Amino acid sequence: MSTTTSFRPLTSIVSYPERGEGGNNQYRGNCSPKLLEDLISFFKPEEICDYMCGSGTTAAAADKLGIQSHCYDLHSGFDLLHNDIPERPPFIFWHPPYWDIIQYSDKMYSAESVRMKYGFDPRPLDLSRIPEWDNFVSAMNYAMMKQYCALEKGGRMAVLVGDIKKKGKLYSMLFELIKPGTLENVIIKAQHNCFSDKIRYTGRFIPILHEYVLIVRKDASLLYPIMMSQKREIDVRDMPGATWRDVVAAVLETCHEAVPLSYLYEKIEPHRKAQKNKWWKEKVRQTLQCSPDHFVHTARGMWALRRAS
Ligand SMILES: C[S@@+](CC[C@H](N)C(=O)[O-])C[C@H]1O[C@@H](n2cnc3c(N)ncnc32)[C@H](O)[C@@H]1O
Repeated sequence: MSTTTSFRPLTSIVSYPERGEGGNNQYRGNCSPKLLEDLISFFKPEEICDYMCGSGTTAAAADKLGIQSHCYDLHSGFDLLHNDIPERPPFIFWHPPYWDIIQYSDKMYSAESVRMKYGFDPRPLDLSRIPEWDNFVSAMNYAMMKQYCALEKGGRMAVLVGDIKKKGKLYSMLFELIKPGTLENVIIKAQHNCFSDKIRYTGRFIPILHEYVLIVRKDASLLYPIMMSQKREIDVRDMPGATWRDVVAAVLETCHEAVPLSYLYEKIEPHRKAQKNKWWKEKVRQTLQCSPDHFVHTARGMWALRRAS
C-alpha cells in the first residue's frame, strides 16, 4: 500500500504520454494505470469494480493505492451481458471495447481456452465481435444500465469511451452511450501510442487523438434521469426553425432542372410550413422573387436553384 505517492490533480483534460506501471501494455486497447490512479485519488472510493478489466490495469492501480478491487472479464469466465453483477459497488470503472476496432476473444486470448476452462465460447458474447454498429450500441447501453443499477446510492461510474471513424463515417460512442443519473464530468483524455498513430491517412480525414472519460453519479435509488440519443429522420418542410427560403431551396435542390411553381406548391402543401400559413403560396412566390442570390427565374413560372458553378 502506498499512501505517500502524490498524484496529478484531475482536470477536464488528461494526458499520460508515459503509460505507467500496471496492467499489460501488450493487451491492445489497454489504458494507462495513471488514469485509474488519478480517478481513485480524486474520488477516494473504498473499493473499485471493473467488469471488463482486460489486462488488469484497474486492479494494479487499486493495489497501488491500497483499495480493494473486484475485476472480471469475458476471458476469465464473466460475461457482463448475462451474468449477475456480484457486488453493489461504490465505484465502477468501465472501459468497453471500441466496437470492433480491436477484437478480443480469439485475438487477444484463445476462445478455446475459455471454453475449456469455463464451458462457453466467449465469441458470441464479446462486444468487440458485434458486426453492426446499432447492435453494438444496444449491447453497450444494456451493459451501461446493468452496471448503473448495481451501483449503490451515491456511487459513481467512470466510463472510458472513444469515437470511431470507419470508411469516412463517424461512429460516436460518446454520443450514443446512454447517460443515467447525474452527468458529473466529461474528461477529454489524449491518446498516445495507439496502433492508428502508425497509419498515414490520406484525403480529408481528421485523425482522432482523444477519448472521453464520463463520470456519472447515482443520486437516487429508485428513479433515475437518463439521457439518450435517438436517431430520427425529419423533413425540413415540417421543421419549426426552417425559413421559407430553406424550404423552397430544399425542394429545388432535389430537382435537376427548372420546375413550375405548381411543382413547388405540390411539394410544400402537405407540410406544416404551408399548413401554418394561410398565405403560403404567396410566401413561396415572395421567397423566390426576393432572393435572386438563391433562385433563378428561367422562364415564365419556371424556377431553379442558383447553384455554385
Ligand atoms: C478495452 S478492453 C479493457 C482494457 C482494460 N481497461 C485494460 O487496461 O487492459 C475491453 C474488454 O472487454 C472485454 N469484454 C468484451 N465483451 C465482454 C462481455 N460481454 N463481458 C465481459 N467482458 C467483455 C474484452 O475481453 C476486453 O478485455
